[in-house]
Amino acid sequence: MTVGLPEAAGRPGYPADRHPVICGVGGYVPPDVVTNADLVARLDTSDEWIRTRTGIAARHFVGPGTATSDLAVEAGLRALKSADDSQVDAVVLATTTPDHPCPATGPSVAARLGLGGVPAFDVSAVCTGFLYGLATAGGLIASGAAARVLLIAADAFTTIVNPGDRSTAVIFADGAGAVVLRAGRADEPGAVGPIVLGSDGDQREMITVPAGGSRTRSTDEQPAHGDQYFQMAGRAIFRQAVERMTESSQQALAAAGWQLADVDRLASHQANARILAAVAERLDIDPERQLSNIERVGNTGAASIPLLLAQSAESGDLRPGQRVLLTAFGGGLTWGAATLTWPDLGPHPTPDAR
Ligand code: COA
Repeated sequence: MTVGLPEAAGRPGYPADRHPVICGVGGYVPPDVVTNADLVARLDTSDEWIRTRTGIAARHFVGPGTATSDLAVEAGLRALKSADDSQVDAVVLATTTPDHPCPATGPSVAARLGLGGVPAFDVSAVCTGFLYGLATAGGLIASGAAARVLLIAADAFTTIVNPGDRSTAVIFADGAGAVVLRAGRADEPGAVGPIVLGSDGDQREMITVPAGGSRTRSTDEQPAHGDQYFQMAGRAIFRQAVERMTESSQQALAAAGWQLADVDRLASHQANARILAAVAERLDIDPERQLSNIERVGNTGAASIPLLLAQSAESGDLRPGQRVLLTAFGGGLTWGAATLTWPDLGPHPTPDAR
């Protein structure tokens, strides 16, 4: 599915003055840094294995008592501060690690940000959550339901990862990223182009937390050992991620009418450095055009893309006017890609993306 094409004769789409336009960005990672050496001290792994197989050297973990909403509030605050106006009409939170199974975490984040009684809800698409959230927020704006939306993507992934499972514990980490979207025109800096989204629920077991949902709670049986933890078929996921991110990127470029040469920056979900390299190679995008922070933050789930955008804007790797291709893949299975032009956030303070 492609959402966000301009309205045209015989085809529904975004009205000319109601395209989603990014006007604020913020990122946050919790203060505790966990290096490969820290993991080597408690897992059967090595710094060399982690670096060569994943490209990760360090990541941030939440401390005891810190939850997803705490990360989301920090990123949301930074995004609102960097925007021209801190009022929004709705909050969309993309997460796989809500504070509680019930209620959704979005309303609590909106309340803690002092946003009054605006509608707030969660979107769940694992590592593709930011792109699904972007389509959702864009739809609220295009329909006229909201003129401004705060989209936050936050995950405290270490709260569901088995700390003793070396194949996931070295990859996943915690963080949050956020953007403020406003209604604008498709040709403005900050405008989000067409968003391609897809899913394949037949392969849902490739990335899963088997226990804890209604499927297990509707029986009296205790979950099998380890079923409360995140489980991933790493090698199969690797192949699918490369294929789906490449294919959806090509579709998003075609929908936007962009050539590969038009892409100034590729901002892929930071799943694994080897996946990122394979996607860039298949798309024929040279490494200089690829944004990456995986070495410092690992795989932060839904937060990955907006955290990357915030940190890259802060470092100057991402500059106003640059044309950006976004792509992600995650559990569900889900995947997607989108184009956007990076905005000039003007005289407002550069967000402290830590
Ligand atoms: N340290 C040392 N060895 C490890 C290890 C670790 N942290 N994790 C796994 N291994 C071992 C495995 O046990 C296996 O050993 P064996 O051959 O004796 O059985 C070996 O390394 C190879 O395992 P495999 O899973 O085939 O490795 P891989 O090269 O595919 O890399 C991943 C594993 C998880 C890094 C890789 O599959 C991956 O990145 N997958 C996608 C992950 C991802 O991005 N998921 C999120 C999608 S949104």
